[in-house]
Amino acid sequence: MKKLLELITEEFEKAFEKNEYDKKLGKVVVSNRPDLCQYQCNGAMAGAKLYHKAPIMIANQVVESLQDNEMFESVEAVMPGFINIKLNSEFVAKYLNDMKEADKYGCENKAPETIVIDYGGANVAKPLHVGHLRSAVIGESVKRIERFMGNKVISDVHLGDWGLQMGLIITELECRKPDLVYFDESYTGEYPEEAPFTISELEEIYPCASAKSKVDEEFKEKAHQATLKLQSGYAPYTAIWKHIMKVSVEDLKKNYGNLNVDFDLWKGESDAQPYIPGLIQDLIDKKLAYESQGALVVDISKEDDTKELPPCIVRKSDGAALYATSDLATIIQREQDYKPNHYIYVADKRQELHFTQVFRVSKKANIVDENTKMEFLGFGTMNGKDGKPFKTRDGGVMRLENLIAQINKAVYDKIMENRTVSEEEANNTAKIVGLAALKYGDLSNQASKDYIFDIDRFASFEGNTGPYILYTIVRIKSILEKYKAESGNADVNLPVISTDNGSQMQLMLEVAKFNEIIENAAEELAPHKICSYVYDLSNVFNRFYHETKILAEEDQTKKAGYIALINLTINVLEQCIDLLGFSAPDRM
Ligand code: ARG
Repeated sequence: MKKLLELITEEFEKAFEKNEYDKKLGKVVVSNRPDLCQYQCNGAMAGAKLYHKAPIMIANQVVESLQDNEMFESVEAVMPGFINIKLNSEFVAKYLNDMKEADKYGCENKAPETIVIDYGGANVAKPLHVGHLRSAVIGESVKRIERFMGNKVISDVHLGDWGLQMGLIITELECRKPDLVYFDESYTGEYPEEAPFTISELEEIYPCASAKSKVDEEFKEKAHQATLKLQSGYAPYTAIWKHIMKVSVEDLKKNYGNLNVDFDLWKGESDAQPYIPGLIQDLIDKKLAYESQGALVVDISKEDDTKELPPCIVRKSDGAALYATSDLATIIQREQDYKPNHYIYVADKRQELHFTQVFRVSKKANIVDENTKMEFLGFGTMNGKDGKPFKTRDGGVMRLENLIAQINKAVYDKIMENRTVSEEEANNTAKIVGLAALKYGDLSNQASKDYIFDIDRFASFEGNTGPYILYTIVRIKSILEKYKAESGNADVNLPVISTDNGSQMQLMLEVAKFNEIIENAAEELAPHKICSYVYDLSNVFNRFYHETKILAEEDQTKKAGYIALINLTINVLEQCIDLLGFSAPDRM
């Protein structure tokens, strides 16, 4: 269905055309002076230069042509030549009713795509830290938005499961438990089912091994050798690797689950390895890869580049594959399995060059079609209040679990402050609200920007925060519950009706923007646009709520209109937060 702004613009275009002006001048925008009007058209200002006339003359002509148009309550030309627009409330009510009945409230997708979205990107056996939080939170929201828009979306966590950390763990394990069969070269039997470590041991082994490798050259070399042995298929190490994977992935699933994040595919760098030899051969055969200082590289520069981009290294001089090699090989696999027309990668923005290289090599070598969209959604750093990358009090990296616990605690305290609910209920509510605080705190910033992580602010029930949005939803829920209770469970899915109540009209106009906002957020991979929309919508609702006696209204027609509107409002709000990746409790 057409967007509200589109419908208004069409009328203005016709009016400009009718007066023999270019119809492009008819563009209408949301008013930046909501106290004066709802929408405005500034086309007469631009027209003045084109047609050498006073802007107000053009504005007056256009306004004249629109006088009898039923879409508008008023269309006014004001000096020096702006046109202020107020919509007819009946027209808006009708629009909302159409929207209510339409699929996805009128969001449309003219060319549905098959999308592979790569986010999360946890590194197996290393603790999940806040750096991985952004990828998970942003990626999950983008996935939900694209799926809502009717695209076929395949999400892949793309684990870092094939690097030096594996060699480090194996080497450290051998130091600690040299008697394990994996380290007995003469052993030829089966390897045990049971992993030789628990998740908590594993979590402790990696940081310890990593620290050792920084001071102990011999240890570092052993770990390097162990990695190479694993990568060349040495059976005992492969058996350990499988244990590491099983124990870690189980734990990762739990952690992502707590974040309300889930993936269709739990693949990783290791899955791409079989495709590497073919990839390298293909690059050589196509004369794209050449030797440079012992390494094998592919040029990616283009004529119109403003700065020089280094070639993509696909094989190191010691024969080892690199990050780019494994990403290219993964694309081969994804082409075979899904043939997507759109790839989205969500990772730290400092990886931008890497992705530029990978995308260009993919196109140059025809691994993907020329018109396949490849997008990198790079995010900024999460900083502490001091403006430096977020750390624990003692300077270490903050673990995600601890971060979640902290935010839940802050919310829990707030709930207990002003309510007398049981501890159990407060705990459950705190989990739901805490997740919203965390995710909204992140998503409300444009992804590419760095942001300051501030628990007190994120957990506040006031201002542009997740809890404020949830509070608004809970408030509407409770009004609807009361209405149902007093009306013997009457239906709340009623038609929206026209009104002369100013704040009600504001709310209607805000709800009507939903489809346009979502289409735009999907197009731009921009969850922050949905955040600013739910914030505006919540503010407008709360103003309406404070100015209107909803349940006490005696005029039953009016009251039914209020209920219809707030019911549509809550449906839209809940749809939005679902797209952001969180939900609302029943009470808070
Ligand atoms: N594991 C990587 C990291 O921690 C992120 C992976 C991003 N995805 C990709 N296909 N390279 O930095």
